[in-house]
Amino acid sequence: MTAFDSLRVELGTRSYNIIIGPGVIAESGAQIAPVLRQDRVFVVTDETVGARHLAPLQDSLCAQGIATQCLALPPGEGTKSFASLEKVIDWMLSCGVDRQSTVLAFGGGVIGDLAGFVAASVLRGIDFIQIPTTLLAQVDSSVGGKTGLNTPRGKNLVGAFHQPRLVLADTTVLQSLPRRQLLAGYVEVVKYGLIRDLEFFLWLENNADDLLNGEAKALSRAIHDSCKTKAAIVAEDEREHGTRALLNLGHTFGHALEAEAGYNGTLLHGEAVAIGIVMALDFSASRGQISPQDAGRVRGHLDRLGLPTTPRFLAEKLSCSLNPVRLKAQMLRDKKTTDGQIALVLLNALGAAHLEHAVDHAELTAFLHNACA
Ligand code: GLY
Repeated sequence: MTAFDSLRVELGTRSYNIIIGPGVIAESGAQIAPVLRQDRVFVVTDETVGARHLAPLQDSLCAQGIATQCLALPPGEGTKSFASLEKVIDWMLSCGVDRQSTVLAFGGGVIGDLAGFVAASVLRGIDFIQIPTTLLAQVDSSVGGKTGLNTPRGKNLVGAFHQPRLVLADTTVLQSLPRRQLLAGYVEVVKYGLIRDLEFFLWLENNADDLLNGEAKALSRAIHDSCKTKAAIVAEDEREHGTRALLNLGHTFGHALEAEAGYNGTLLHGEAVAIGIVMALDFSASRGQISPQDAGRVRGHLDRLGLPTTPRFLAEKLSCSLNPVRLKAQMLRDKKTTDGQIALVLLNALGAAHLEHAVDHAELTAFLHNACA
């Protein structure tokens, strides 16, 4: 068996490994067999990923005597819904799922979140394994046990913390990702450098091109270092009572922009977070917490790669100016907001983030007016 790079998420009896490298899927059967309680898995995927990558996964599982039952759902954010939850659970019940069964989430963040929530809820909770197939899912959503659904009132408002038993990140599948998707995932990679790991951010400044050109070594290092930081933060604060909120750098501004864009592909999650990160850094600079040069340095890096870095990008796409009052109202819906107090992840320095509780409303309103002008 090939010796792949691996990391461990330390959560006591719920600890698990993340296996990273090119060709992991082709050898997934041998990785998966030791964590199964029975010799079959329920694979939930999307139609695009299934058509491209399901065969090598099934072959590898079959070689270990593991049977697969597969359900492919339509790709896209619309699949993270109550209707899909019902469909997947009904399918599993009709196939005779029991408490020894395992769900295998094979796809991007939508499939990982949905299949993870299915696993958390069917028969009051069964095992699941993540095989993320986008960069964003490999470095972020597949690790840490956040699962859930969107509701018509907002994204990720229903869900559960339910840790996977294993995460397999195959860098080879990233080669078939459209560059726009890869870039959007790269934003979450940069996030780890900015919140906790200056050396990693400096490495990214020099190696982003190799990584985005699909160079396996650069991709593996970026996924390893991102997951290492995420694993450490999740081990410290699994249920997001404190430190884990730092993983939301750029997300409060970003989610507000995504909501304005309408979740229809106008602005991908990672693109919204790219703008959100630059806004969080500009906001930090406006309060003297970092220098304007540091904020400009990150903006310059993301700009150079072709990522959007200002709310004006969305305004141009929508052919209308953004309304700062509406943006602030969206920010108030953030899960970190309590009793009307907005909490934001800000920086003290590149590589050092903190959570600012109760951000002054007038200060934020003035900032948003400026940013949208
Ligand atoms: N994606 C943020 C978290 O897992 O906490």
